[in-house]
Amino acid sequence: MDQPGVLDAIHTCRALRRLKPDPVPDEILVQILDAAIRAPSASNTQNWAFVVIKEPGQRRKIAEIYRKAFDLMSAMYRDRQPAPHQTLSAYNRMMGAAEHLANHLDEVPVIIVAGLMTPAASFAPPARDTARVAAARPRISGASIYPAVQNILLACRAFGLGSVLTTIHAYYDEEVRAALNLPQEFTTYAMLPVGYPAEGSRHGPVKRRALNEVVCLDRWGNHWPAR
Ligand SMILES: Cc1cc2nc3c(=O)[nH]c(=O)nc-3n(C[C@H](O)[C@H](O)[C@H](O)COP(=O)(O)O)c2cc1C
Repeated sequence: MDQPGVLDAIHTCRALRRLKPDPVPDEILVQILDAAIRAPSASNTQNWAFVVIKEPGQRRKIAEIYRKAFDLMSAMYRDRQPAPHQTLSAYNRMMGAAEHLANHLDEVPVIIVAGLMTPAASFAPPARDTARVAAARPRISGASIYPAVQNILLACRAFGLGSVLTTIHAYYDEEVRAALNLPQEFTTYAMLPVGYPAEGSRHGPVKRRALNEVVCLDRWGNHWPAR
C-alpha cells in the first residue's frame, strides 16, 4: 500500500469514529506503537506506557465505561452551540459520529490507552519555587504524552486505519483503572479506538480555522497576513 508523505498524512488525518470490526494485524500494531515511542518527552524521560486492548471481554468493559462517560458529556453539552467556525450541520455530524463510536466501541478491534507513569521524585524545586513548578506541571505532563498520541494517529493514517483522540474515559477514571488493573503510578491521558474505516467513512482533507486568525507575528494582536 502506498503510504502518504508526512504533510499529506497531517492534512488528511481526520477523526474517524465509524470503524469496522475487522482485526488489525499485530505487525501493523507494532509499527503504530513504535511510531508512538519515537515522540519527544520532557528530558527524554519516556515515562509513557500504553495498554493495547484487544480481548473482546476487556473491550466490552471499556466500552460500557465510555458509553457512560459519553452520556455524562452529552448531558453537560446539551445546550452547547457550535464554535463560531463550525456550521450547525458539521457540528451535528461530528456529534452523531461521536455517539456512534460510544454505541459501538466494543466492536472496534483495538483500543489503545496512552498514559504516563509518575516518575519517582528525583529532584525537588527550591522551596520558594514550589508553587511555580506545580502550576506548570500539568502542561509539561501533557506535553510528554500527546506527541506520542499524535504519532499514533498519523501512523494509523499511514496504514489506512481510522482513529480519534478521546479523553472522556477520564470522567470514570476509577472504573477504567479497575478494568485494566492499572497501577497507582499510571495516569491515563487518552483512549484511541483503532480500526479500518467503515463503508462511507474515509480520511480526507482536515478543515481548520485560517492561519491569520490564529497566528500572530512578533506580538499578540499583530495577525499573520491573510493569504
Ligand atoms: C482533547 C481532545 C478530546 C477529544 N475527545 C473526544 C471524545 O471524547 N470523543 C470523540 O468522539 N472525539 C473526541 N475528540 C476528537 C475531536 O472531536 C476531533 O479531533 C475534532 O473534532 C477534529 O476532527 P477532524 O480532525 O475530523 O476535523 C477529542 C479531541 C481532543 C483533542
